[in-house]
Amino acid sequence: MWGGRFAAGPAAVMREINASLPFDKRLWKQDIMGSIAHAAMLASKGILSEADAATIIAGLEEIDDEYAAGDLPTDLSLEDIHMATESRLAEKIGPVAGRLHTARSRNDQVATDFKLWVRDAIDEVDLGLYRLQRALVNRAADYADAVMPGFTHLQSAQPVTLGHHLMAYHEMVGRDRSRFADARARMNLSPLGAAALAGTGFPTDRHMTAAALGFDGPTRNSLDSVSDRDFALDYLMAATQVALHLSRLAEEFIIWASQPFGFISLPDAYSTGSSIMPQKRNPDAAELVRGHSGRILGCMTALCVTMKGLPLAYSKDMQDDKPPVFEAHDLLGLSITAMTGMVETTTFRTDRMRALAESGFATATDLADWLVREANVPFREAHHITGRAVKAAEQKGCALADLPLAELKTIDGRIDERVYAVLTVDASVASRKSFGGTAPDQVRARIAEATAALDAETGR
Ligand code: ARG
Repeated sequence: MWGGRFAAGPAAVMREINASLPFDKRLWKQDIMGSIAHAAMLASKGILSEADAATIIAGLEEIDDEYAAGDLPTDLSLEDIHMATESRLAEKIGPVAGRLHTARSRNDQVATDFKLWVRDAIDEVDLGLYRLQRALVNRAADYADAVMPGFTHLQSAQPVTLGHHLMAYHEMVGRDRSRFADARARMNLSPLGAAALAGTGFPTDRHMTAAALGFDGPTRNSLDSVSDRDFALDYLMAATQVALHLSRLAEEFIIWASQPFGFISLPDAYSTGSSIMPQKRNPDAAELVRGHSGRILGCMTALCVTMKGLPLAYSKDMQDDKPPVFEAHDLLGLSITAMTGMVETTTFRTDRMRALAESGFATATDLADWLVREANVPFREAHHITGRAVKAAEQKGCALADLPLAELKTIDGRIDERVYAVLTVDASVASRKSFGGTAPDQVRARIAEATAALDAETGR
């Protein structure tokens, strides 16, 4: 492509280090779309004859069919998908292929192709996250009343419902989706036509190519257009946030599936056995979701570090932008699908959850609140009195609700038999009626809103 200036060809290792074709062939579809839009614009502005443009576009469409059939280029000396496609076009239509690159450079071309790819990737992730939200809401609806221990510090804290716990993840995924939506809206300007870095002297119409490719308009600064990879970083940062959320849910499933917890039993389809210990049933899919989050974070870090020292405009370092985005996208897709499957099919052992909720003095706060409400005791003093009751129950090896009234009265004479109504786990969760609280009625209201919002999404 640059034979005019060069006397010798590249060293073998130069060909190898220089080539992005092994990974950027994944952009073939976007590259052809961008080239067709560019050729059509050149013709409409009279920069290219209608006949030449028609020949070029027909050739590109044939190449599109070849690529779609799996016949992708492999010759590393062509460096990347952009040059490989142009060279294939020349094989097909001859020297007129050389007119396609008028008024553009690979710098704006690669930025455009990659943006189009990331835009599709965002739409794919969003669909996966929508399905995960559906799964969470559906399971939450089945367990809006199922009592489990709520934890802080992984210590039994107050009873909550399993539906409430699952809906917490629905909230997280909702924020994840909004981050991707923000990123998509922000990135949707077309770099095509910025050319190498300074714009072009040809009378192009960048608005036309932007519209043809579904962008909201052209980018406004040619230097920024070819040097910007914020869209890839936005994608990776949003992906990292999703991965962190999935990792937390995976971690909970792993803990819950352990024998001492016994809160869930993961289906065979998402578990593996051991080659030596016949009793084992390991939560491998959840562990890999947790593990993949580390790799996705690594991809984000890699591109941040690649970009951080680069002067304007394009530098070849930026060719390394694609592998981390592709890797993160593949890992994220697997993680979302696996997590959704686990949420849909896990067996929840609600009897076990209830038993543990009842055994951990989880209604101690309810006793303290009762003293405040019914006996007008200041909360700090009520906290103290309750602490003594917990100690007494611990010594007897019984639940708070099983302490005899006589014993409670020796701890504080203001306690009477009405207190037993608040010491059960069901009474405790039912009382947490504040907006967003764990009371089953609240949880059901949030589930109804979430379901309506998911139903209102069209095109799913
Ligand atoms: N293979 C390059 C990449 O992926 C294409 C851009 C080359 N531009 C240049 N000025 N050498 O980034």
